[in-house]
Amino acid sequence: MSHTITVRDKDIVVECEAGETVLDAMERAGFAIPYSCRKGVCASCEGGLCGGEAQVRGQGHLTGPQEGVKLCQARPLTDIEIAPARIRKVDPVERKVLPGKVRKIQRLAEDVAAIHLRFPIGNRAPFRAGQYLRVMLPDGDSRNYSMANPPQKNDALELHIRHVPGGKFSESILARLAPNDVLEVELPYGEFTLTEAVIPALLVATGTGFAPIRSIIENQVRSGAARPLHLYWGGNGSDDIYMRAAMEALAERHVWFTFTPVVSGADAGWQGRRGFVHEAVLEDYPDMAGLEVYACGAPVMIEAARRDFCAKAGLDPDLFFSDAFVPSGDAEAVPA
Ligand SMILES: Cc1cc2nc3c(=O)[nH]c(=O)nc-3n(C[C@H](O)[C@H](O)[C@H](O)COP(=O)(O)OP(=O)(O)OC[C@H]3O[C@@H](n4cnc5c(N)ncnc54)[C@H](O)[C@@H]3O)c2cc1C
Ligand code: FES
Repeated sequence: MSHTITVRDKDIVVECEAGETVLDAMERAGFAIPYSCRKGVCASCEGGLCGGEAQVRGQGHLTGPQEGVKLCQARPLTDIEIAPARIRKVDPVERKVLPGKVRKIQRLAEDVAAIHLRFPIGNRAPFRAGQYLRVMLPDGDSRNYSMANPPQKNDALELHIRHVPGGKFSESILARLAPNDVLEVELPYGEFTLTEAVIPALLVATGTGFAPIRSIIENQVRSGAARPLHLYWGGNGSDDIYMRAAMEALAERHVWFTFTPVVSGADAGWQGRRGFVHEAVLEDYPDMAGLEVYACGAPVMIEAARRDFCAKAGLDPDLFFSDAFVPSGDAEAVPA
């Protein structure tokens, strides 16, 4: 049985099909609300359930009013009213499931591999810089990985995968993966994309959180835009900043691009900035009024950056955008 979803203080009413989540129904109707993992782990989609009842995976049977409801896991049981953190009208999302043939696997650092995929001739997968895809696993589970290439090149994809000890994909499957193997991928997903604003943006990454940010930067190079972008890329050691030379070369070629690598661990040979990456950003930008921030990678960095940038540097919380690389396997989602 379907139910209606009304958005508080907006003239928006959407039909939600039986079994559909609030996030899926809103997307189908052409409305974007914040999300990242879609697995109930990251909390990016949290919003209010103002009235009505919903079954929320991991949170149980909820009756409004309730705050902090994960709208990616919420299935209405009655007509409901919601208050998402943000909402905007977008074109309905058209996702594709495509076979990606492995063209090459490249080692970028000791624990980071790049997988280059190519789609069959005539197949393209449009996406926006900063978005991610789902790799479908043989057992029906899936993993999220961000596209590291610019969207102009959408008949082929590049993914940067960090090795997670014991990981189903990043250890077991990746160890056996070879050129000409096929990975089934579904895309595009994600809201971690630059807004239309022209104000300067700070890009903050740890480890492979660099992947979607690289896509954003390369997209700006190809489109000829000149929005000021300052990338801070943090790692435990200098090896974690695995495309440092390429970013330094880019910063020399484009006046709109600034690059600051930051190392937090004991790397004896490192001559550059030291400390936690978000603290380096705060030192350089004690006043963040009039800036946008895009942070991607370790959840702990993203939480610290969101908290400190807003509390200490006056960043508008609505101008902080993030993708936290939380575990994206189904087994990791909070059980119902
Ligand atoms: C929106 C989004 C985009 C992402 N993009 C990327 C990307 O571009 N590159 C990339 O390398 N990763 C990315 N990730 C993380 C990725 O989806 C996987 O979760 C990760 O690769 C682990 O998968 P796995 O199958 O190897 O490990 P799993 O089998 O899922 O996990 C094995 C064990 O490691 C733990 N674990 C899983 N992930 C992590 C982690 N990140 N840190 C610490 N412990 C962990 C699990 O809890 C489990 O105990 C992204 C995640 C999200 C939500
Ligand atoms: S998008 Fe809902 S918890 Fe991550």
